[in-house]
Amino acid sequence: MKNLVKWLLAVTYFQLVPENHDQPDLAARDNAATPSPTLTVQRSGGNQSSPLLYGVMFEVGARAAGIPLTSYQEMDHSGDGGIHGQLLQNNGFQGDNPGLAAYKGIGDVELIQDILSSVSSAITSSLQVSVQPGAKGYVGFANTGYKGVPVMNATYSCEFWMMGDYSGTIMLELAGSSSGKIYASHNMTVRSLWGEFTRHQTSFNSSASPDGDNEWRLLFNGSQVDGALNFGLVQLFPPTYKSRSNGLRDDIATFLEKIHPSFLRFPGGNNLEGLQIDSRWQWNLTIGPVVNRAGRQGDWFYPNTDALGIGLDEYLWCCEDMHMEPVLAVWAGKSYGGMVSHLEPYIDDILNELEYILGPSTSTYGSLRANNGRADPWSLQYIETGNEDDLAGGCDTYPDRFMQIHRAIQTNYPNLTLIASNIDFLCLPIDLPSGLLYDHHYYCQPDDLVSMFNYWDNHPRSQPAIVGEYGCRNTTDREGIFWSSMPCSCSEAVHMIGLERNSDVVKMAAYAPLLQHFGFTQWSPTLFGFDSTPNSLTPSPSYHVQRMFSTNRGETILPVHTTTTTSNFHPLYWVASKTTHQKKNPTYIVKMANYRPQNHTLHINIPHTKSGYLEMISGEGNATNLLHDVAIQPVLRKIANSEGGYTVDLGEWGVVVLAVS
Ligand code: AHR
Repeated sequence: MKNLVKWLLAVTYFQLVPENHDQPDLAARDNAATPSPTLTVQRSGGNQSSPLLYGVMFEVGARAAGIPLTSYQEMDHSGDGGIHGQLLQNNGFQGDNPGLAAYKGIGDVELIQDILSSVSSAITSSLQVSVQPGAKGYVGFANTGYKGVPVMNATYSCEFWMMGDYSGTIMLELAGSSSGKIYASHNMTVRSLWGEFTRHQTSFNSSASPDGDNEWRLLFNGSQVDGALNFGLVQLFPPTYKSRSNGLRDDIATFLEKIHPSFLRFPGGNNLEGLQIDSRWQWNLTIGPVVNRAGRQGDWFYPNTDALGIGLDEYLWCCEDMHMEPVLAVWAGKSYGGMVSHLEPYIDDILNELEYILGPSTSTYGSLRANNGRADPWSLQYIETGNEDDLAGGCDTYPDRFMQIHRAIQTNYPNLTLIASNIDFLCLPIDLPSGLLYDHHYYCQPDDLVSMFNYWDNHPRSQPAIVGEYGCRNTTDREGIFWSSMPCSCSEAVHMIGLERNSDVVKMAAYAPLLQHFGFTQWSPTLFGFDSTPNSLTPSPSYHVQRMFSTNRGETILPVHTTTTTSNFHPLYWVASKTTHQKKNPTYIVKMANYRPQNHTLHINIPHTKSGYLEMISGEGNATNLLHDVAIQPVLRKIANSEGGYTVDLGEWGVVVLAVS
C-alpha cells in the first residue's frame, strides 16, 4: 500500500512537470567517433527463438464519473473510454459516488440519479428525467462521453433501458456539444410503461465530426410526458473489432493488431489484486449480460466499471480474434489492503474459473460459458499466480500460497504451464516445482535499460522467464520521461535485442502499459494514445519499435561475426535471425539499434541473399510524437545487393530492421 501511495504521488507529480527529454548520460559519454564494424551473419548455429517472444500486457482501468481527476485517478481510461467500444460515460451509475457526471439536460427538464429505480440487481441507479409542466417539443438528455464522443463516418449501435409511460418517438442524435451541428439523427418508436424497465435497441449512420467535442442525445416529446421518464444503462457502440457484441473499438483494436502481439497478459497487474480483498478482480462478476455486471471498487483508489466493459470473455475473444496466446493471471490471496489467511475458497474459485474457460459445455461452469455465447472451451495454456507477490507484504506467504495453487491446478489441469509472479527467491518456494516460468517486471530509465542489455546472457537456462512488464520509464526523477521519445524507444530496442538474443530462455516479453486516453492520462508512457477526435490514434516511437521487431521474427537466432572490437556492442547493438519455415529461401533478419545522438554506418554481409527491405525509425533526442502532431515516423525502403552486402546508415537513436532473402 505504501508503495502504491508513493507511486501515485510520483505519477500525479508527473502530470505537473513539463516534458523533458534530456539526453541520457550513457549516450553522451559515447559521442566520440565509433569505428564502423562490418557484421557478417552466419547461416547456421545459434539458439531457437521463442515464438511467443513479443506480446502485450493489458489491464483495464476506469475512473468513476464525478470524482475529480486530481484526487482519484485511473489507468489512463485504457479500457472504459478506451479500447472497449462503449462510448458513453457513467452509463451504469457505478462506483461509490457517480452523480450526474457526463449527463446534461436538454430543454425544460431536471435530471437526478434515481437510486430507487434500479434497472437490475447490478445496475442499481437510473437517470430520472423530469419534464417541467408546460414543456414543449423534444426534450431529454445528453451524455458527453469520455471528454467527448468520437463521431465517425460509421454505423453506430445504441441501446438503453427505459421506464415510464410513453408511447411515441425517441430521437437519437450525435451532435457537436459546442457547435450544435448534428452528425446523426435517428427516430425510433417505443412503447414504455411505468413500473418496469424495458430494453430498446437500434442502429444508425453518422457522418464524421472534425473534432471530439461531441455528445450523444436522447430526446422525446415533452408534451406527451406527465411527470418523469427513467433511463438506464445507455450504450453507444461504433463498429467493433470483428463485429463482436460488447466488443472492442475497431479502430483501436486494429491499431493494436498491427503489432502482431503473440500473447496478452491480463487482467493485471495491480488491477488483478484489488485495493481490498473484496475489490479484487473477480472473474465471475465480469461475465454474462452487462446488465448483470455490477462493477467494483477498483485499484488505485477509484471505482472501476470494467465489469461492464471488458470482462473475462471479452479478453478471451480479443486473444482469439488477434491470435494471441492468453496469459491469465489468477488471484493468489493478496490484495493491497490485506491477505487471506485461508486460501481454500479462493483456490476453488480459481478452479471454477478454469472450468469456465476450459471445461466442456456439459460441466457446471462450462455450461455457463456456453450460455454466455461460447460453446467451445477457450484455448488457455499459461496461468500466472498473482502479481508482484514480492511486494506489498506478499513475500513471506507467497511460497505457501503459490504451492497450494500450484498443487490444485496441476492436479486438475496437469498440462497447464504456471508462472510465478516474481523472481525473488526469498519469496518463492525452496523446492521449486519443475516446468515453471518466472515473471520479471522492470520499468527503467533509458541508460538503465541499456545497461541491462547483457542481463539475460548468463541467466540460468533452467529458469525460463517471462518479462511480464517492461518499458523505458522514470518514476522518481523530477524530469521524468512522460511520453516516449527516441532515446527511450531506442533503449527499449537495445533491450529487446538482448531479449531476442536470449529468447531460448526468455519465452515472452510484454511492453506495459498498453494505451491511454490523452484526456485522462495518469501513467505514461504507454505504447499509444488517443482522445475523442476521430483518427486521433497516436503511436509513440516505442509503438513502432514493438511493431518492427514483432512483425519481423526469425525462428533461429544466428551468430554474427564482426570485424572490429565493437563486439561488446555499445553504442551499436544487433541481433540476427532467420526464418526456418521457408526452408528453401529463408528470410534473414537483422535488428539494429544506435544508442547515441549521432548517425552511424554499418556494413552487413548476409551471404547468398540479394534483396529485401529495410525499415528505420530515428529522430533527435527531443523529438517525440504528440497528439495530432506525429513527428517520428518509420521509413520503409527496398534494399538490394547481388553479393549480399548491405550498407545501413543508422540515424541518431536509430532503430533498424533489415529483412532480406
Ligand atoms: O503496469 C502498471 C503497473 O505496474 C502494474 O499494474 C503493476 O503490475 C506494475 O507495478
